[in-house]
Amino acid sequence: MHFASLLILALANTAFANSSTGCKKELPPAFPNPGESTPLDLPGTDRDYRLYIPSNYNPKNPTPLYISLHGANRNMDEQERLSQFSNPLFNPDGIAVYPNSRNGYWLSNPKAHTSRPNDLDYMYDLITHLEDKLCIDRNRIYAAGKSNGAGFAGVMACNATVGSKIAAFASVSGGYYNISDIPGLGPCSPAPRDEGYPFLEFHGTKDTISPYDGGGRDDKRPVIDVLEEWAGRNGCPKDARWNSNVTVFEHPLVKHASWNCGGKKGIVQHYREGDWGHCWASTVPNGDTEAFWKQCIPGKYVFNATEVIFDFFSGYQLKA
Ligand SMILES: *[C@@H]1O[C@H](CO)[C@@H](O)[C@H](O)[C@H]1NC(C)=O
Ligand SMILES: *[C@@H]1O[C@H](CO)[C@@H](O)[C@H](O)[C@H]1NC(C)=O
Ligand SMILES: *[C@@H]1O[C@H](CO)[C@@H](O)[C@H](O)[C@H]1NC(C)=O
Ligand SMILES: *[C@@H]1O[C@H](CO)[C@@H](O)[C@H](O)[C@H]1NC(C)=O
Ligand SMILES: *[C@@H]1O[C@H](CO)[C@@H](O)[C@H](O)[C@H]1NC(C)=O
Repeated sequence: MHFASLLILALANTAFANSSTGCKKELPPAFPNPGESTPLDLPGTDRDYRLYIPSNYNPKNPTPLYISLHGANRNMDEQERLSQFSNPLFNPDGIAVYPNSRNGYWLSNPKAHTSRPNDLDYMYDLITHLEDKLCIDRNRIYAAGKSNGAGFAGVMACNATVGSKIAAFASVSGGYYNISDIPGLGPCSPAPRDEGYPFLEFHGTKDTISPYDGGGRDDKRPVIDVLEEWAGRNGCPKDARWNSNVTVFEHPLVKHASWNCGGKKGIVQHYREGDWGHCWASTVPNGDTEAFWKQCIPGKYVFNATEVIFDFFSGYQLKA
């Protein structure tokens, strides 16, 4: 990119930053030092989370916040290792937060609803708390998740109150259900907004936990249906098929699909990982190559989902 456009971009980011109430405040004593992460309790609740603060954190600079949600039966610590959102290689200057579910599952599977706490309230309270303690750019809050956590990222996106705080969403090997079937929720009703709902999805065709074509335990939805719905919400015609279908990274197995909707290029994107399973794509072994070793073969993938996610997020921010 040309230096002048970089400069304009930098100025634009500062000019339109949306400072949270935590700006200019000292870091609370319990919070991690910049460059570190630590587990914390959310005051007034029975919930906890893990927080990472980048080494260059400056309470005068509105800073982006990246939310990373763990999969079923996993936790915030495992998600930090899996998603690598605290790794400066991928995230040089953003805050990362790893919310913890209360019992290993997020609010997203209608059949498993009864024992679920209201995770939407938790997310709302957590974001509000962090905005009050840290200098966050409220226009640059992003959410990503794995599996059940990816499904919950979709639930957040569908909720007008919580989804409106999030500029873009990323979903890795998500387990998707019909949100209308979750008692007390549904149907999917994000608040209208000009920016649209940027949605990035990764899925392996050999995923046995969240099968690509749907089904599996508790009858999950086909990935393509979920993608087409987000395309529809972004102004594409109903049932829009993907309009680019190229092989990326010169890799014969990975297909990249991208939807241009309502004048927004690539607002919905999908990486279809042929011959791979329920995995967070990484060129180096990670938690998934251990947990799902039969379907997540180390060395099989030539890209890092985390890198693609941060690149995608960098293209979006909320407007006033
Ligand atoms: C959206 O989330 C908020 C915050 O938790 C909650 O109060 C509200 O009931 C939710 N809305 C719907 C339609 O589920
Ligand atoms: C989701 O569930 C609702 C209520 O049961 C139903 O009306 C709707 O058709 C379902 N949507 C899909 C895509 O299955
Ligand atoms: C894109 O690729 C997938 C997988 O190879 C295929 O099922 C689909 O039909 C293709 N779509 C288009 C529009 O070519
Ligand atoms: C992917 O990330 C790992 C660190 O987790 C890094 O060593 C590797 O170089 C990255 N690969 C690419 C292609 O960027
Ligand atoms: C700042 O963010 C809040 C919460 O998303 C929003 O209501 C408000 O309009 C934003 N203000 C500006 C100036 O972008």
